[in-house]
Amino acid sequence: MRLTTDTREAAVRLRDGGLVAVPTETVYGLAARADDPHAVAKIYAAKGRPADHPLIVHVANALALDEWASFIPKYAHLLAAALWPGAMTLVVKRSERAGDFITGGQDSVAVRVSAHPIMDETLRALIALTDDPAIGIAAPSANRFGRVSPTSAQHVIDEFVGIIGDDDLLLDGGTSSVGVESTIIDCTDEVPRLLRAGAITVDDITRVTGLKPELNSTVRASGTLESHYAPDAEVVLTDAEGLATTQVTSNARIGVIAVGTIPTPTGMVRLAAPESNEAYAHALYRALREADALQLTTVVAVLPDAHGVGAAVIDRLQRAAHR
Ligand code: TXA
Ligand code: MG
Repeated sequence: MRLTTDTREAAVRLRDGGLVAVPTETVYGLAARADDPHAVAKIYAAKGRPADHPLIVHVANALALDEWASFIPKYAHLLAAALWPGAMTLVVKRSERAGDFITGGQDSVAVRVSAHPIMDETLRALIALTDDPAIGIAAPSANRFGRVSPTSAQHVIDEFVGIIGDDDLLLDGGTSSVGVESTIIDCTDEVPRLLRAGAITVDDITRVTGLKPELNSTVRASGTLESHYAPDAEVVLTDAEGLATTQVTSNARIGVIAVGTIPTPTGMVRLAAPESNEAYAHALYRALREADALQLTTVVAVLPDAHGVGAAVIDRLQRAAHR
């Protein structure tokens, strides 16, 4: 996997059926053109991901959603107009464009417009090369299946060194500003349903659509959403008091993630001390990866409040803790 900042070179590689790891404002993705089953198969092989797990199709703008969907409810149009480009993925009834190799055989497809300028530039270059304004690139998070999503180019290299060859590219776009995956909203029914929490919140959805989204997670329960997001270290959730009274045994090497006002108990390693929920989300996956790099046995995390992106941070930490 060769590092580059040349979006045109990346677009050529995508056009020709290769893999390109791409930055987005949420996490890095591992991309291939979404109309090429052979290219998409390379994503599943590299990730070690089961073939029935559907992928998100990334497109240049909201107009392209019409091409990938067979039906779009009014509230989904409102969401797309108000919140794209951004950290939001819409699941809609699929059109002919979305093959079974993208949707895992489901009759819906997940679509996103990322706000990252390098992602945008790459898609525009690909549109110019293919003469298809609605062309999409399928991109799951650029991590091996079940592992923590990457928020920097170095994280992607750490995941795929020796797995992806130098014909395929990694676009360096710096650290992902949001740090946790996009909010996924199921738009196949009369009312939106939250499938995965992210930086776009339930309040955002209500404000934009005037509708209260359903929160039940049938999709996650049926196993279509990745459930790990876990480092090798054991993740333990606690509150400030629990942290202060945690015993450090002789064999334990413990890392701490907590807001900056909470002190680090003696004998523990501070992994992150975020000052806001946004900063917590931004630091979370870097901190979990650092725990493994430092060969810690345990990560003790003090959950943030559920305000804003805090709900998504709580969700990811709970998944990391429940293996
Ligand atoms: O922020 C993100 O969403 C990142 C960046 C790269 O865009 N992508 C990402 O992709 O997190 P991935 O594949 O790791 O997670 C996408 C989730 C999967 O759990 C998948 O099951 C769900 O979206 N998904 C995709 N298509 C779906 C569909 N048609 N119905 C329900 N869930 C779907
Ligand atoms: Mg993922």
